[in-house]
Amino acid sequence: MSKDNKMAEPVRTIGVLTSGGDAPGMNAAVRAVVRTALAKGLEVRGIRRGYHGLLREEIIDITARDVADIIQRGGTILQTARSQQMRTEEGQRKAAAVLKKYGIQGLVVIGGDGTFAGAQKLSDYGINVIGVPGTIDLDIACTEYTIGFDTAANTAMEAIDKIRDTSTSHERCSIVEVMGRDAGYLALWCGIANGAECILLPEEHGYDEEAIIEDILENRKRGKKHYIIINAEGVGNSINMAKRIEEATGVETRATILGHLQRGGSPSVKDRVYATTMGAKAVELLVEGKTNRVVGYKHGEYIDFDINDALKMHKEIPDYQLEIARML
Ligand code: F6P
Repeated sequence: MSKDNKMAEPVRTIGVLTSGGDAPGMNAAVRAVVRTALAKGLEVRGIRRGYHGLLREEIIDITARDVADIIQRGGTILQTARSQQMRTEEGQRKAAAVLKKYGIQGLVVIGGDGTFAGAQKLSDYGINVIGVPGTIDLDIACTEYTIGFDTAANTAMEAIDKIRDTSTSHERCSIVEVMGRDAGYLALWCGIANGAECILLPEEHGYDEEAIIEDILENRKRGKKHYIIINAEGVGNSINMAKRIEEATGVETRATILGHLQRGGSPSVKDRVYATTMGAKAVELLVEGKTNRVVGYKHGEYIDFDINDALKMHKEIPDYQLEIARML
């Protein structure tokens, strides 16, 4: 590969895989990759179970018909996995060799940072790669949007609305744990959308439980009937936190862990459209002879970034949004 991310020879056959945690809209992206590639005269192979399947040569032929009726489906028809082997040099070399064996010169990977790190290694071994951001965590720094976030946030928001109803009826404190081990975007957005009293984010590295307890007591005095704490997965154990809070405040406290229901379900219109556009753009970049790029969305436009640069970027939680969430 040359320094300007241009490939030496044009691609004729491309592969597509989904990797890491699944996200609603991944199917829409797969469909767009397959159909755009076929429209441009390329051959397409599907790789099942992400890098894990690639290393086991789980490679299938895929036609326009195979991706019919999937745009509205959650999950990923290609299946997904997290591969430890792909983190090793031996795994990366083997994965590149498998792709070459099957005549796959270009690869579109749909996933998060870990997926892109694997793709970047494949690019070192001469595979032309393009990354498409697919994660409910919204934590990829080079893009303002990642496929799956909108659906997941709406799923969580609707669940929290329901919890709020029962919390108000019983005059309880409710801790709702949303996904995002390392990223607090789902927690922040739900915190704003659900009008939560308290939001705990992994980016803040800890929280003050005493201050929360005081705030609950203060709210009670003012006649508030519920107290919703949105706890991002990475912050603390919600069940134990509920026990401690109930003990300290005398306010009945329940914890609900929303878990993987946030990763499923039919993708929203936003996820379908972003996934379709990003999937199509990934193939267009390969056709233009580009490689080692990540597709993204910034300032109203679909753009692409060098994977190496994208992986070095760090995404911060926007202070202003956090301030608003806390003020309101
Ligand atoms: O990256 C997506 C995500 O859902 C995170 O929000 C969560 O912390 C993690 O995956 C859970 O991973 P797993 O499904 O492997 O338990």
